[in-house]
Amino acid sequence: MTHPENSIPWWQRATIYQIYPRSFKDTNGDGIGDLNGILEKLDYLEELGIQAIWLSPFYPSPMADFGYDVSDYCDVDPLFGDLATFDALLDAAHLRSIKVIIDWVPNHTSDQHPWFIEARSGRDNPKRDWYIWRDPKPDGSEPNNWGSLFGGPAWTLDRLTGQYYLHQFVKEQPELNWRNPGLRAAMLDTLRFWLKRGVDGFRMDVVGLIIKDKQLRDNPPDPGASADLPANDLFGRQLHVYNDDQDEVHAVIREIRKVLDEFDDRCGIGELFGELPRWVRYYGERGDELQLPFNFRLIYKPWQAGAIRRSVDKMEAALPDFAWPNYVLGNHDQPRLASRLGGQPQARLAAMLLLTLRGTPTLYYGDELGLENGIIPPEKIQDPVGKNLGPARTRDVERTPMQWSSEPYAGFSSLEPWLPVSADYATRNVASQAKDTKSILNLYRQLLHLRRETPALYRGRYETLDAGASDCFIFLREFEGSGCIILLNFSAEAHQVTLPKGMRGKILLSTYLDRPGERIRKETFNGLTLRAHEGLILETELQQ
Ligand code: NOJ
Ligand code: CA
Repeated sequence: MTHPENSIPWWQRATIYQIYPRSFKDTNGDGIGDLNGILEKLDYLEELGIQAIWLSPFYPSPMADFGYDVSDYCDVDPLFGDLATFDALLDAAHLRSIKVIIDWVPNHTSDQHPWFIEARSGRDNPKRDWYIWRDPKPDGSEPNNWGSLFGGPAWTLDRLTGQYYLHQFVKEQPELNWRNPGLRAAMLDTLRFWLKRGVDGFRMDVVGLIIKDKQLRDNPPDPGASADLPANDLFGRQLHVYNDDQDEVHAVIREIRKVLDEFDDRCGIGELFGELPRWVRYYGERGDELQLPFNFRLIYKPWQAGAIRRSVDKMEAALPDFAWPNYVLGNHDQPRLASRLGGQPQARLAAMLLLTLRGTPTLYYGDELGLENGIIPPEKIQDPVGKNLGPARTRDVERTPMQWSSEPYAGFSSLEPWLPVSADYATRNVASQAKDTKSILNLYRQLLHLRRETPALYRGRYETLDAGASDCFIFLREFEGSGCIILLNFSAEAHQVTLPKGMRGKILLSTYLDRPGERIRKETFNGLTLRAHEGLILETELQQ
């Protein structure tokens, strides 16, 4: 007999937990998190109910963009440990049935990568064409009008060779030329290096950018651009017609996927943006590109029942049959969830939404504690975005140290951490929330375990139900006659909701963690009250 759950790939079944290694746990007292720290905290993650971790870059790097500027794709920066520590971490995670996904940065290297050092040494260097070089315009200016996401033009003049090189992030991140077969082969080999070591998948950084318009044409201005953009935000003022999402990128992604498929059961996740019909193409016409193009749509929607429901419904409708959905609500590039949504009750509701939708959820370290944006004094800003585009944009606020306990520096480190620990650490930390049965940490734990144990939640179909109240979003998840109804009240007022006639069941979980097992009788089902910002999961019996 086959066990149906075994036929589900792990990346559909798992909840992914993103770790920003610098900020998770420091074990050698230099104020910076390390791989050993992650190893130390695997028990915590296992108990929480996490089945996969994604590690932001730990490669050797000059840290101009905190590891997203890689100077060697096949090693570990000594700040974080070494390959032996990585192997130990991988083994220890696998022992706990936790999969390990690592970041892979295909669009650019560090300007200190040996390839770039060679490439910039002369126009005739064999590695010259591994990067994107162009002559200045006759007046000496940049080859085209593209802007960098991190401020200023996307081109820097290399004085030695008299040409500009392309970089859509900081100038220390020169962009690779994926049209060059030698570069392509070398980058694909870096994937094999880690696949052979046993990593389970890759999160591919800005993978939609890796192929640019062959002629590098000027981007048109964006008529809808906000008038308040900083003067140097050229990128924000353009439509990204020629630098992003080129049709030819799909052939490259199929090649990348083929490398993953040389090994069993590996998963490709892509950092991808754009309108739904274009985004959906990254699954591949026959499912031969990425298993999970990250879905960031909910991050950009107002926190309102209607907007969230429409986004989910549209995405569900746009997916081909073979494609598996996924959702992201927070990461190292976005303000903290609890701050963005306006408070802790909203953060609790978001947890229930994320962990009950159909599709793989990705959560960001610290969101399980309801961490809020850190307050970073201007002189402590580290992020190049904060430095170049203004303190209001700094991503440091979502990268503050994990809060483990009320000990000094939140138990993160014995020395002052690289970013200040948030002031609320004395009360908002793992140790104290673990003891508080109604904490958001316990809500996450219960949600994660319920999801793991409930086929309707991890694999069931999704159907929107009519809420009868515009502030509420209600949906059904169902598998082989067992169902869960999820009721989410997005407003600060209580609401009565109605459900289809004849449904019965009991409450499995409330975001308030105070009414487990409450039975809902036929009569009350049609007039069930949700408190302010309350979410409920009901178990229900359905007719087959
Ligand atoms: C996207 C990453 O998520 C971000 O943190 C990074 O700065 C850029 N790509 C550049 O690699
Ligand atoms: Ca350290």
